Amino acid sequence: MNRKQAALLPSTEGGVSFAAERLIAGDLVVMPTETVYGLAARADSPDAVSSVYAVKQRPLFDPLIVHVARGDGSEPLLARIRPLVDFRSFSQEALDLLEVLGESFWPGPLTLVLPRAETVHDLVTAGLPGVAVRMPAHPVAERLIRAVGVPLVAPSANRFGRISPTTAQAAMEELGDRVPAILDGGPCAIGLESTVIAIEPDATVRLLRPGGIPTEAIAAIAGALSPRSARVEAPGQLPSHYAPRAPVCLLQDLDPAKIEPAGPVAILLARGPAEPVIAAFERAGHEVLAARVLSPTGDDREAARNLFAAMRSLDAASPSRIFAEPWTSQTGLGAAISDRLARASAPR
Ligand code: TXA
Ligand code: MG
Repeated sequence: MNRKQAALLPSTEGGVSFAAERLIAGDLVVMPTETVYGLAARADSPDAVSSVYAVKQRPLFDPLIVHVARGDGSEPLLARIRPLVDFRSFSQEALDLLEVLGESFWPGPLTLVLPRAETVHDLVTAGLPGVAVRMPAHPVAERLIRAVGVPLVAPSANRFGRISPTTAQAAMEELGDRVPAILDGGPCAIGLESTVIAIEPDATVRLLRPGGIPTEAIAAIAGALSPRSARVEAPGQLPSHYAPRAPVCLLQDLDPAKIEPAGPVAILLARGPAEPVIAAFERAGHEVLAARVLSPTGDDREAARNLFAAMRSLDAASPSRIFAEPWTSQTGLGAAISDRLARASAPR
């Protein structure tokens, strides 16, 4: 692990090729994706992959997503993942479904868990029978993966259990003292992680994590999704995750009169405006350090883009608690926003 602060690389040809050289050599580099920034390492190097766990302080039972490039478009999308996946158990129906899902949502914020090929290292899948694969839509990630020439594992570039970074600066705060370089691709367009689904050999689809692609859009193609199973299949599903340092209280009815004053607070609002809420908190005897609005118009995309950055900036004010309002919708991208808010406020 390096003690120097990471180099912040521009997403120029020079920046991308410097990052690619580091990755080829087995180092870790933070890369932008359209969802959140990822801590990248070459997926074919057990040493590099094990450094990812060490740098993130991530338990070895939490598997990593393998990121592939789209390439020059001359190959069918599925050819890009063939070396990683063992399709022998797959029915024709499952293969067809996979192809339609790939064509509909790749490159983009959809991760597919598929039967792993033997060549995929155990450290990548945490010993699970499936490998998670995704083709990111961010042009800088695409260029980087192509320059490295092999798929890259990339968990979100945060320390385990904390908020995923959606800017290079946020990644610097999380991991700047632990990686040689951070490639700056600007603020992430989606702002929360990919949707993770497992496709079974019989073409059943299970939702493992709501995210950037609405489950309704997947269901429109695949039919109803099997619900997430009660057992924890991966720690991304642990109740407490994506959490700021300050405890987060998610309150249906953000009534400050019902909250016992106990130290300065921060407020995360769904739609705003913030001023009347801040005033009400102050009237009830609370010191308000900061407030953020997810989307003044109640727009899912805007709220998703703002969510992690808002939590991060409220946390930076060092409040004793963050009071948050539930998001306004539970469908589409709103389901993923609500999922992240619930996890951020889950008991720790
Ligand atoms: O949008 C994203 O997916 C971002 C960007 C960087 O691509 N990556 C990301 O990775 O969110 P991470 O490691 O923070 O979350 C990946 C989650 C794991 O927690 C786990 O739930 C699931 O994906 N996962 C990965 N591999 C799996 C596998 N083999 N079987 C089941 N679930 C898996
Ligand atoms: Mg993560």
